[in-house]
Amino acid sequence: MPDALELLKTRRSIKPIELVGPAPSAGEIETLLTVASRVPDHGKLAPWRFIIFEGEARRAAGAAIAAAFCARYPTAKPEQVEAERNRLARAPLVIAVVSRAGPHVKIPEWEQVLSAGAAAMNLVLAAHALGYAASWITEWYAYDRGVLAALGLAENERIAGFVHIGRPREPAEDRPRPPLDAIASRFGTP
Ligand SMILES: Cc1cc2nc3c(=O)[nH]c(=O)nc-3n(C[C@H](O)[C@H](O)[C@H](O)COP(=O)(O)O)c2cc1C
Repeated sequence: MPDALELLKTRRSIKPIELVGPAPSAGEIETLLTVASRVPDHGKLAPWRFIIFEGEARRAAGAAIAAAFCARYPTAKPEQVEAERNRLARAPLVIAVVSRAGPHVKIPEWEQVLSAGAAAMNLVLAAHALGYAASWITEWYAYDRGVLAALGLAENERIAGFVHIGRPREPAEDRPRPPLDAIASRFGTP
């Protein structure tokens, strides 16, 4: 097994269009979900859930995206509509992380949302650890209530991310990372 710190230090996103098969196996998907759901969760509310898009179901979900796109842009060209239909079929596997955050007597909604972000990040890291690459994206349809209803989300649920998973078509270069002295400071005198 690769060194954990090495994995954390080398993770980077790969665009959905550059992710190719084979998709993770059923056993690997179980591992991905097991890791994704092992996150800090104030109040143990499990304020998130996951939706798996695989095989033909990716295009079926894409039909809802294309329909919403056509409603927004009635004069859209056929190739644009086709690109929308293909949104969730670019990578071999997409796992949506759904936030179920809401008002609670004790646990702030903000903390529930953060837990969904942690779940998405764990999912991305688990994919990397299994030898896959991932891309955590939202794009416009994550905010379209018609699309979300078609994907089975309730009114109170939101998309934290559509995590696209596959193998990188080719090695990709990293992007510059923020210098630590620009993002971290020490409080007071140690
Ligand atoms: C909640 C969330 C939503 C994102 N949505 C998009 C998106 O819609 N499109 C996109 O290109 N990147 C999106 N990103 C950024 C990518 O996940 C990724 O961070 C970026 O491509 C930089 O790559 P890196 O992960 O290697 O730093 C999103 C990130 C987060 C945390």
